[in-house]
Amino acid sequence: MNAFFDDWDDASVPATAAPEAPAQTTQTVQAAPAAALAPIKASDKRVVNGHGDINQLAPFKYAWAWEFFLKANRNHWAPTEINMAQDVQDYHHKLTPAERHMFENVLAYLTTSDILAMRNIGLAVMEKMTAPELQIYQARQVYEEALHTWTYQHCIETLNLEQEEIYNRYRVVPAIHGKIALANRRLEKILRSDLDLSNRETLHEFALSYLFFAGIFEGCWFYNGFSPIFALQRRGLMKGTAEQFQYIMRDEVLHCAFGLRVIRELMQEENLTLDPKAVAELWAEADAAEEAYASYILQEAILGYSADLHLGQFRFVANRRARQMGLSEPFPGAQATLPWLDEQANLRKEKNFFETRVTEYQTGGSLVW
Ligand SMILES: [Fe+2]
Ligand SMILES: [Fe+2]
Repeated sequence: MNAFFDDWDDASVPATAAPEAPAQTTQTVQAAPAAALAPIKASDKRVVNGHGDINQLAPFKYAWAWEFFLKANRNHWAPTEINMAQDVQDYHHKLTPAERHMFENVLAYLTTSDILAMRNIGLAVMEKMTAPELQIYQARQVYEEALHTWTYQHCIETLNLEQEEIYNRYRVVPAIHGKIALANRRLEKILRSDLDLSNRETLHEFALSYLFFAGIFEGCWFYNGFSPIFALQRRGLMKGTAEQFQYIMRDEVLHCAFGLRVIRELMQEENLTLDPKAVAELWAEADAAEEAYASYILQEAILGYSADLHLGQFRFVANRRARQMGLSEPFPGAQATLPWLDEQANLRKEKNFFETRVTEYQTGGSLVW
Protein backbone atom coordinates (compact mmCIF):
# COMPACT_ATOMS: atom_id res chain seq x y z
CA MET A 1 0.00 0.00 0.00
CA ASN A 2 1.45 3.41 -0.87
CA ALA A 3 1.70 6.45 1.41
CA PHE A 4 -1.45 8.09 0.06
CA PHE A 5 -3.61 5.19 1.11
CA ASP A 6 -1.68 4.77 4.39
CA ASP A 7 -2.85 8.29 5.34
CA TRP A 8 -6.44 7.19 5.07
CA ASP A 9 -5.95 3.90 6.88
CA ASP A 10 -6.93 4.93 10.38
CA ALA A 11 -4.59 2.91 12.61
CA SER A 12 -5.99 4.62 15.73
CA VAL A 13 -9.29 2.75 15.52
CA PRO A 14 -9.05 -0.12 18.01
CA ALA A 15 -9.48 -3.56 16.52
CA THR A 16 -12.76 -5.16 17.48
CA ALA A 17 -13.50 -8.84 17.71
CA ALA A 18 -14.92 -10.25 14.51
CA PRO A 19 -18.67 -10.85 14.83
CA GLU A 20 -19.68 -14.43 15.16
CA ALA A 21 -20.68 -16.04 11.90
CA PRO A 22 -24.43 -16.59 11.65
CA ALA A 23 -25.55 -20.16 12.06
CA GLN A 24 -25.65 -22.07 8.79
CA THR A 25 -29.10 -22.57 7.40
CA THR A 26 -30.22 -24.94 4.73
CA GLN A 27 -33.19 -22.73 3.72
CA THR A 28 -32.83 -21.06 0.31
CA VAL A 29 -34.66 -17.83 -0.48
CA GLN A 30 -36.33 -17.66 -3.88
CA ALA A 31 -36.05 -14.25 -5.59
CA ALA A 32 -39.38 -13.05 -6.94
CA PRO A 33 -39.30 -12.76 -10.75
CA ALA A 34 -38.74 -9.11 -11.77
CA ALA A 35 -41.68 -7.52 -13.53
CA ALA A 36 -40.93 -6.26 -17.05
CA LEU A 37 -41.15 -2.48 -17.47
CA ALA A 38 -42.24 -0.53 -20.49
CA PRO A 39 -39.37 1.16 -22.38
CA ILE A 40 -38.84 4.90 -21.92
CA LYS A 41 -39.14 7.37 -24.80
CA ALA A 42 -37.35 10.72 -24.86
CA SER A 43 -40.72 12.44 -24.99
CA ASP A 44 -41.60 10.92 -21.59
CA LYS A 45 -39.03 13.13 -19.93
CA ARG A 46 -39.82 16.42 -18.18
CA VAL A 47 -37.65 18.97 -16.39
CA VAL A 48 -39.86 18.58 -13.29
CA ASN A 49 -43.01 16.58 -12.56
CA GLY A 50 -41.86 13.81 -14.91
CA HIS A 51 -42.68 10.14 -14.49
CA GLY A 52 -39.92 8.69 -16.65
CA ASP A 53 -37.04 6.58 -15.35
CA ILE A 54 -34.61 8.86 -13.52
CA ASN A 55 -31.91 6.15 -13.67
CA GLN A 56 -31.90 5.93 -17.45
CA LEU A 57 -29.67 8.44 -19.25
CA ALA A 58 -30.70 7.91 -22.87
CA PRO A 59 -32.63 8.43 -25.05
CA PHE A 60 -31.86 12.10 -24.42
CA LYS A 61 -34.57 14.66 -24.47
CA TYR A 62 -32.17 17.40 -23.37
CA ALA A 63 -29.09 16.51 -25.43
CA TRP A 64 -27.81 20.07 -24.84
CA ALA A 65 -27.53 19.26 -21.12
CA TRP A 66 -25.19 16.37 -21.89
CA GLU A 67 -23.13 18.76 -24.05
CA PHE A 68 -22.87 21.12 -21.08
CA PHE A 69 -21.52 18.23 -19.00
CA LEU A 70 -18.90 17.39 -21.64
CA LYS A 71 -17.93 21.05 -21.97
CA ALA A 72 -17.64 21.50 -18.20
CA ASN A 73 -15.20 18.60 -18.08
CA ARG A 74 -12.80 20.51 -20.34
CA ASN A 75 -12.20 23.12 -17.66
CA HIS A 76 -10.17 21.10 -15.17
CA TRP A 77 -7.77 22.67 -12.75
CA ALA A 78 -6.67 22.46 -9.15
CA PRO A 79 -5.88 25.60 -7.14
CA THR A 80 -2.56 24.22 -5.98
CA GLU A 81 -1.32 24.13 -9.62
CA ILE A 82 -1.22 27.91 -9.84
CA ASN A 83 1.81 29.84 -8.68
CA MET A 84 0.84 32.30 -5.94
CA ALA A 85 4.37 33.44 -4.95
CA GLN A 86 4.05 36.89 -6.54
CA ASP A 87 0.61 37.36 -5.01
CA VAL A 88 2.10 37.05 -1.52
CA GLN A 89 4.55 39.83 -2.38
CA ASP A 90 1.88 41.97 -4.02
CA TYR A 91 -0.59 41.59 -1.19
CA HIS A 92 1.84 42.45 1.60
CA HIS A 93 4.02 45.01 -0.17
CA LYS A 94 2.28 46.52 -3.18
CA LEU A 95 -1.47 46.80 -2.53
CA THR A 96 -2.70 50.03 -0.97
CA PRO A 97 -4.92 49.80 2.14
CA ALA A 98 -7.97 50.51 -0.07
CA GLU A 99 -6.97 47.70 -2.44
CA ARG A 100 -6.42 45.27 0.44
CA HIS A 101 -9.82 46.21 1.89
CA MET A 102 -11.46 45.50 -1.46
CA PHE A 103 -9.53 42.27 -2.01
CA GLU A 104 -10.30 40.76 1.40
CA ASN A 105 -13.97 41.61 1.27
CA VAL A 106 -14.41 40.25 -2.24
CA LEU A 107 -12.78 37.02 -1.06
CA ALA A 108 -14.99 36.90 2.04
CA TYR A 109 -18.13 37.42 -0.03
CA LEU A 110 -17.19 34.93 -2.75
CA THR A 111 -16.27 32.07 -0.43
CA THR A 112 -19.57 32.26 1.44
CA SER A 113 -21.45 32.60 -1.83
CA ASP A 114 -19.94 29.50 -3.36
CA ILE A 115 -20.97 27.32 -0.43
CA LEU A 116 -24.47 28.73 -0.78
CA ALA A 117 -24.42 28.01 -4.51
CA MET A 118 -23.36 24.42 -3.83
CA ARG A 119 -26.18 23.91 -1.33
CA ASN A 120 -28.71 25.44 -3.70
CA ILE A 121 -27.95 23.24 -6.67
CA GLY A 122 -27.15 20.07 -4.69
CA LEU A 123 -29.81 20.16 -2.01
CA ALA A 124 -32.67 22.23 -3.40
CA VAL A 125 -32.59 22.01 -7.19
CA MET A 126 -31.07 18.72 -8.31
CA GLU A 127 -33.55 16.47 -6.53
CA LYS A 128 -36.51 18.27 -8.14
CA MET A 129 -35.26 17.46 -11.66
CA THR A 130 -36.86 14.42 -13.28
CA ALA A 131 -34.43 13.91 -16.21
CA PRO A 132 -31.01 12.35 -15.47
CA GLU A 133 -29.11 14.36 -18.10
CA LEU A 134 -30.06 17.51 -16.16
CA GLN A 135 -29.02 16.00 -12.84
CA ILE A 136 -25.68 14.83 -14.20
CA TYR A 137 -24.59 18.32 -15.21
CA GLN A 138 -25.84 19.61 -11.85
CA ALA A 139 -23.78 16.93 -10.06
CA ARG A 140 -20.72 18.29 -11.86
CA GLN A 141 -21.81 21.79 -10.84
CA VAL A 142 -21.97 20.73 -7.19
CA TYR A 143 -18.36 19.52 -7.47
CA GLU A 144 -17.30 22.75 -9.18
CA GLU A 145 -18.81 24.89 -6.41
CA ALA A 146 -16.82 22.83 -3.90
CA LEU A 147 -13.71 23.32 -6.03
CA HIS A 148 -14.33 27.07 -6.00
CA THR A 149 -14.55 27.00 -2.21
CA TRP A 150 -11.22 25.15 -2.14
CA THR A 151 -9.77 27.86 -4.43
CA TYR A 152 -10.71 30.69 -2.07
CA GLN A 153 -9.41 28.72 0.90
CA HIS A 154 -6.14 28.15 -0.96
CA CYS A 155 -5.83 31.91 -1.59
CA ILE A 156 -6.67 32.74 2.04
CA GLU A 157 -4.11 30.22 3.33
CA THR A 158 -1.38 31.21 0.87
CA LEU A 159 -1.72 34.90 1.68
CA ASN A 160 -1.77 34.04 5.37
CA LEU A 161 -5.02 35.89 6.04
CA GLU A 162 -6.75 35.46 9.38
CA GLN A 163 -9.25 32.70 8.58
CA GLU A 164 -11.67 33.22 11.43
CA GLU A 165 -11.89 36.91 10.62
CA ILE A 166 -12.31 36.46 6.85
CA TYR A 167 -14.91 33.71 7.11
CA ASN A 168 -16.91 35.65 9.70
CA ARG A 169 -16.86 38.85 7.71
CA TYR A 170 -20.11 38.19 5.84
CA ARG A 171 -21.83 37.89 9.22
CA VAL A 172 -20.53 41.10 10.73
CA VAL A 173 -20.48 43.40 7.68
CA PRO A 174 -24.08 44.36 6.79
CA ALA A 175 -23.25 45.16 3.15
CA ILE A 176 -21.91 41.66 2.57
CA HIS A 177 -24.56 40.02 4.71
CA GLY A 178 -27.29 41.73 2.68
CA LYS A 179 -26.47 39.76 -0.47
CA ILE A 180 -26.06 36.48 1.38
CA ALA A 181 -29.28 36.97 3.35
CA LEU A 182 -31.19 37.65 0.15
CA ALA A 183 -29.89 34.41 -1.39
CA ASN A 184 -30.59 32.46 1.79
CA ARG A 185 -34.21 33.66 1.77
CA ARG A 186 -34.63 32.43 -1.81
CA LEU A 187 -32.98 29.11 -0.99
CA GLU A 188 -35.10 28.48 2.09
CA LYS A 189 -38.26 28.77 -0.02
CA ILE A 190 -37.32 25.72 -2.09
CA LEU A 191 -35.08 23.72 0.25
CA ARG A 192 -37.68 21.04 0.96
CA SER A 193 -37.79 17.61 -0.58
CA ASP A 194 -41.60 17.52 -0.34
CA LEU A 195 -42.05 20.67 -2.44
CA ASP A 196 -45.13 19.98 -4.57
CA LEU A 197 -44.26 21.28 -8.02
CA SER A 198 -47.65 20.22 -9.38
CA ASN A 199 -48.99 23.19 -7.42
CA ARG A 200 -48.78 26.23 -9.74
CA GLU A 201 -47.88 28.69 -7.03
CA THR A 202 -45.08 26.48 -5.71
CA LEU A 203 -43.82 25.86 -9.23
CA HIS A 204 -43.71 29.63 -9.82
CA GLU A 205 -41.74 30.11 -6.60
CA PHE A 206 -39.31 27.38 -7.66
CA ALA A 207 -38.80 28.94 -11.11
CA LEU A 208 -38.24 32.36 -9.54
CA SER A 209 -35.64 30.97 -7.14
CA TYR A 210 -33.85 29.15 -9.94
CA LEU A 211 -33.91 32.35 -11.99
CA PHE A 212 -32.45 34.22 -9.05
CA PHE A 213 -29.60 31.75 -8.57
CA ALA A 214 -28.75 31.17 -12.24
CA GLY A 215 -29.48 34.62 -13.65
CA ILE A 216 -28.59 36.93 -10.77
CA PHE A 217 -26.49 35.13 -8.18
CA GLU A 218 -24.30 33.37 -10.73
CA GLY A 219 -25.07 35.29 -13.91
CA CYS A 220 -24.57 38.80 -12.48
CA TRP A 221 -23.14 38.75 -8.98
CA PHE A 222 -20.53 36.09 -9.68
CA TYR A 223 -19.93 37.14 -13.26
CA ASN A 224 -19.24 40.70 -12.19
CA GLY A 225 -17.96 39.71 -8.76
CA PHE A 226 -14.44 38.95 -9.94
CA SER A 227 -14.12 42.29 -11.76
CA PRO A 228 -12.41 44.23 -8.94
CA ILE A 229 -9.72 41.53 -8.77
CA PHE A 230 -9.38 41.52 -12.57
CA ALA A 231 -8.84 45.29 -12.35
CA LEU A 232 -5.78 44.55 -10.20
CA GLN A 233 -4.68 41.84 -12.63
CA ARG A 234 -4.83 44.30 -15.50
CA ARG A 235 -2.26 46.37 -13.61
CA GLY A 236 -0.04 43.32 -13.10
CA LEU A 237 -1.14 42.70 -9.48
CA MET A 238 -2.48 39.54 -7.78
CA LYS A 239 -2.22 37.61 -11.03
CA GLY A 240 -2.27 34.15 -9.41
CA THR A 241 -5.52 34.88 -7.60
CA ALA A 242 -6.97 36.42 -10.76
CA GLU A 243 -6.01 33.38 -12.81
CA GLN A 244 -7.81 31.14 -10.32
CA PHE A 245 -10.86 33.41 -10.59
CA GLN A 246 -10.78 33.15 -14.37
CA TYR A 247 -11.15 29.39 -14.10
CA ILE A 248 -14.06 29.89 -11.71
CA MET A 249 -15.63 32.42 -14.04
CA ARG A 250 -15.55 29.89 -16.87
CA ASP A 251 -17.57 27.51 -14.71
CA GLU A 252 -19.98 30.21 -13.62
CA VAL A 253 -20.70 31.24 -17.20
CA LEU A 254 -21.78 27.67 -17.88
CA HIS A 255 -23.77 27.42 -14.64
CA CYS A 256 -25.70 30.53 -15.59
CA ALA A 257 -26.31 29.47 -19.21
CA PHE A 258 -27.40 25.99 -18.13
CA GLY A 259 -29.72 27.28 -15.42
CA LEU A 260 -31.42 29.79 -17.71
CA ARG A 261 -31.92 27.07 -20.32
CA VAL A 262 -33.48 24.75 -17.73
CA ILE A 263 -35.90 27.47 -16.64
CA ARG A 264 -36.88 28.24 -20.24
CA GLU A 265 -37.58 24.53 -20.88
CA LEU A 266 -39.50 24.25 -17.63
CA MET A 267 -41.66 27.27 -18.43
CA GLN A 268 -42.43 25.90 -21.86
CA GLU A 269 -43.29 22.39 -20.65
CA GLU A 270 -45.36 23.62 -17.73
CA ASN A 271 -46.91 26.50 -19.69
CA LEU A 272 -45.71 28.82 -16.96
CA THR A 273 -45.36 32.59 -17.19
CA LEU A 274 -43.38 34.49 -14.59
CA ASP A 275 -45.24 37.26 -12.82
CA PRO A 276 -43.60 40.50 -14.09
CA LYS A 277 -44.10 42.12 -10.68
CA ALA A 278 -42.25 39.30 -8.90
CA VAL A 279 -39.43 39.45 -11.46
CA ALA A 280 -39.16 43.23 -11.10
CA GLU A 281 -38.91 42.79 -7.33
CA LEU A 282 -36.12 40.24 -7.85
CA TRP A 283 -34.08 42.76 -9.86
CA ALA A 284 -34.80 45.65 -7.50
CA GLU A 285 -33.67 43.65 -4.43
CA ALA A 286 -30.56 42.45 -6.24
CA ASP A 287 -29.70 45.96 -7.39
CA ALA A 288 -30.09 47.47 -3.91
CA ALA A 289 -27.94 44.71 -2.36
CA GLU A 290 -25.29 45.12 -5.04
CA GLU A 291 -25.19 48.89 -4.61
CA ALA A 292 -24.61 48.55 -0.85
CA TYR A 293 -21.93 45.91 -1.44
CA ALA A 294 -20.09 47.95 -4.09
CA SER A 295 -20.17 51.06 -1.91
CA TYR A 296 -18.64 49.08 0.96
CA ILE A 297 -15.88 47.22 -0.87
CA LEU A 298 -14.95 50.36 -2.81
CA GLN A 299 -15.38 53.01 -0.13
CA GLU A 300 -12.41 54.58 -1.87
CA ALA A 301 -12.03 54.11 -5.60
CA ILE A 302 -8.89 52.23 -6.61
CA LEU A 303 -6.88 52.86 -9.75
CA GLY A 304 -9.10 51.89 -12.70
CA TYR A 305 -12.09 50.79 -10.62
CA SER A 306 -14.91 52.29 -8.55
CA ALA A 307 -18.29 51.48 -7.03
CA ASP A 308 -20.03 53.31 -9.90
CA LEU A 309 -18.21 51.24 -12.53
CA HIS A 310 -19.09 48.05 -10.63
CA LEU A 311 -22.78 48.88 -10.34
CA GLY A 312 -22.97 50.09 -13.94
CA GLN A 313 -21.59 46.78 -15.18
CA PHE A 314 -23.98 44.84 -12.93
CA ARG A 315 -26.93 46.62 -14.56
CA PHE A 316 -25.56 46.09 -18.06
CA VAL A 317 -25.09 42.34 -17.43
CA ALA A 318 -28.51 42.15 -15.74
CA ASN A 319 -30.13 43.38 -18.97
CA ARG A 320 -28.34 40.63 -20.89
CA ARG A 321 -29.56 37.93 -18.49
CA ALA A 322 -33.12 39.23 -18.77
CA ARG A 323 -32.93 39.14 -22.58
CA GLN A 324 -31.64 35.55 -22.41
CA MET A 325 -34.83 34.68 -20.54
CA GLY A 326 -37.08 36.59 -22.94
CA LEU A 327 -37.83 39.09 -20.15
CA SER A 328 -37.82 42.86 -20.45
CA GLU A 329 -34.62 44.68 -19.49
CA PRO A 330 -34.66 45.77 -15.85
CA PHE A 331 -32.24 48.69 -16.38
CA PRO A 332 -33.03 50.20 -19.81
CA GLY A 333 -30.14 52.11 -21.32
CA ALA A 334 -27.45 50.66 -19.00
CA GLN A 335 -24.08 50.78 -20.73
CA ALA A 336 -21.06 48.52 -20.30
CA THR A 337 -18.81 50.30 -17.81
CA LEU A 338 -16.20 47.52 -17.90
CA PRO A 339 -15.95 46.75 -21.62
CA TRP A 340 -13.02 44.42 -20.97
CA LEU A 341 -15.00 42.04 -18.75
CA ASP A 342 -16.44 39.83 -21.47
CA GLU A 343 -13.01 39.35 -22.95
CA GLN A 344 -11.77 38.40 -19.53
CA ALA A 345 -14.37 35.63 -19.45
CA ASN A 346 -13.70 34.47 -22.97
CA LEU A 347 -10.07 33.61 -22.34
CA ARG A 348 -9.26 32.58 -25.86
CA LYS A 349 -9.33 36.20 -26.95
CA GLU A 350 -6.70 37.14 -24.41
CA LYS A 351 -4.04 34.66 -25.39
CA ASN A 352 -1.14 37.08 -25.28
CA PHE A 353 -2.33 39.19 -22.40
CA PHE A 354 -2.01 36.57 -19.69
CA GLU A 355 1.21 34.64 -19.56
CA THR A 356 -0.54 31.83 -17.73
CA ARG A 357 -1.86 28.41 -18.61
CA VAL A 358 -5.47 29.48 -18.76
CA THR A 359 -5.80 29.18 -22.51
CA GLU A 360 -4.13 25.78 -22.55
CA TYR A 361 -6.86 24.31 -20.36
CA GLN A 362 -9.72 25.26 -22.62
CA THR A 363 -9.81 22.76 -25.41
CA GLY A 364 -13.38 23.24 -26.52
CA GLY A 365 -15.16 25.85 -28.57
CA SER A 366 -16.24 29.28 -27.43
CA LEU A 367 -18.55 29.52 -24.50
CA VAL A 368 -22.27 29.96 -24.90
CA TRP A 369 -23.36 33.18 -23.23
FE1 LIG B 1 -19.00 28.75 -7.95
FE1 LIG C 1 -21.90 28.40 -9.84
